[in-house]
Amino acid sequence: MSLLVIGRSGQVARALVRRAAARGIAVEALGRPELDLEAPALAEEAIRARRPSVIINAAAYTAVDKAEDDRDRAYLLNSEAPARIAAVAAELGAPLIHFSTDYVFAGDKEAPYVEADPTAPASVYGASKREGEERVLAANPRAIVLRTAWVYDSAGQNFVRTMLRLASTRDEISVVADQHGAPTYADDLADAALTIAAKPTAFGIYHCAGQGETVWADFAAATFAGAAIRGGPSAAVKRITTADYPTRARRPANSRLNCDKLAADYGVRLRLWPDALSDCLDEIAASGWSVG
Ligand SMILES: NC(=O)c1ccc[n+]([C@@H]2O[C@H](COP(=O)([O-])OP(=O)(O)OC[C@H]3O[C@@H](n4cnc5c(N)ncnc54)[C@H](OP(=O)(O)O)[C@@H]3O)[C@@H](O)[C@H]2O)c1
Repeated sequence: MSLLVIGRSGQVARALVRRAAARGIAVEALGRPELDLEAPALAEEAIRARRPSVIINAAAYTAVDKAEDDRDRAYLLNSEAPARIAAVAAELGAPLIHFSTDYVFAGDKEAPYVEADPTAPASVYGASKREGEERVLAANPRAIVLRTAWVYDSAGQNFVRTMLRLASTRDEISVVADQHGAPTYADDLADAALTIAAKPTAFGIYHCAGQGETVWADFAAATFAGAAIRGGPSAAVKRITTADYPTRARRPANSRLNCDKLAADYGVRLRLWPDALSDCLDEIAASGWSVG
């Protein structure tokens, strides 16, 4: 397989390169400036020139709050560009794995969401990602959309690193305790995508998130407990509600994704989130708690 990853510096893109290298898979990651999704025609040329046998698109407009005031760019990066990547992939006969999000749902279901549940995004980010899903699937019959949630990594911008950074200057941190989901370690997500990429046999939408469930406040508390036993920064967690922490874009109250379809079709199920968090904290500890 010759794998092309779209996106380079993002947490999932980096994890894909890291895990592909560990598995002996030939991979090239293309990001800005060589491939800028704001210039889709040039991006198409860059992809065609490489003739990959599989493409994984890990690039996206991910600034959820900013997207509310930057609608056109969010749709360009999350819908138009992925549709064009999917079409080029189809032209090359290459399957495409594309990432999407729990934000396509309203978040008011009582149980974990399944793939067939109706979508109802409450934010520009969610709506742009939903349109991207539909256009990717329409443009390439061999497209796989992996919806994930609450992604974190030992590097990059994410909740775990933000909590550890705040803990180095504060004794107590307020964290929302009424949004439910499951943290997804970027390495685990990358491994799942690479397993699928190696033998893509079924297509369409799949949910792929860490197993188990929690709320942000408990995820923070687990991060601090794990950091403390490794000699890292920790703080007390003050549980607050979504109403206490207003954000520009609305977050789903329920981000839980039922991942049974992926397990049934591909035999892939991510680890329980506390086990993955433990590995991530080991890595951050090995870096000397460099979370700045
Ligand atoms: N993070 C989460 O919690 C989460 C949850 C659910 C779903 N997802 C989905 O998972 C996927 C990966 O997310 P992530 O967490 O890895 O995001 P991230 O860390 O914010 O990375 C975003 C990626 O998009 C690339 N990008 C942005 N604008 C670009 C442009 N104009 N041209 C080319 N590349 C551009 C960035 O590349 P540069 O190096 O050029 O900046 C970077 O590689 C996305 O589809 C996202 O919607 C993420």
